[in-house]
Amino acid sequence: MDKRPIGIFDSGLGGLSAVKAVLKYLPEENIVYFGDTQRVPYGSRSEQTIEAFAKEDIAFLEKFDCKLIMAACGTVSSVAVQATSQIKEKFVGVVKPSCAAAVKASKNGRIGVMATAASINSGSYTKEIQRLNPNACVSGVSCPVLVTLVENNWIDTDDYISREIIKRYSAPLLADGVDTIILGCTHFPHLAPLIQSVVGDNITLIDSGYEAVMEAKRILSENRMSNISGKGEARYFVSDKIQNFSSMANTLLGIDISDQVEYRNITD
Ligand code: DGL
Repeated sequence: MDKRPIGIFDSGLGGLSAVKAVLKYLPEENIVYFGDTQRVPYGSRSEQTIEAFAKEDIAFLEKFDCKLIMAACGTVSSVAVQATSQIKEKFVGVVKPSCAAAVKASKNGRIGVMATAASINSGSYTKEIQRLNPNACVSGVSCPVLVTLVENNWIDTDDYISREIIKRYSAPLLADGVDTIILGCTHFPHLAPLIQSVVGDNITLIDSGYEAVMEAKRILSENRMSNISGKGEARYFVSDKIQNFSSMANTLLGIDISDQVEYRNITD
């Protein structure tokens, strides 16, 4: 049994889709979360900048003696290959587990990916899907505006503007006949009910945050590193105003975490 925390990071609120799954499926685990709210979004930035940010995020989490570090960020998982390959602890990103789930779920081998521009341009999802199934057809679309919708709480299923934006982003995927769509940016699972209602129930949506947590669960259990006693505790750190993060986090997680959120300038 290993009581050390799982370290989870993202540019902002997106990684809470992974936290949500940890709270539900690994409730005994302790968590340290870092949301880089000062520098969100990551998805429109250069490879060098994403590498540099990821390196700092990881160095911050490593101070907490984490047993596993999770890049709950499709952009970091896709682009920051150097920073993530130097992690000394166990590591989980979102690309591999999401692609494995999508390949398993897809019946027609046509898989869509909605993610940030950096993730789509890196080709990370396409490469991994085609490694698992060389006959798969992958259609990717970069959806930067969806990050903003989540950061601003425009996530209700009846939000007309958000629906129109999702219609526009999902149209090319539906035209390509996909039966499965990876929500390859961890912000997007927060929009899952809305996306599902736009694309229809015949499309399987893959939640990248959830899939990363299932992978972490497997790794911890195989290595006898799970924490199996008591209720886990969570600490949340952000690099900008606490208030902005906690009010949205409370909505997304469905619990009040306001008194667990702390500010840190990690570049000090
Ligand atoms: N949540 C992030 C991702 O999974 C990044 C969103 C952003 O900062 O652009 O890609």
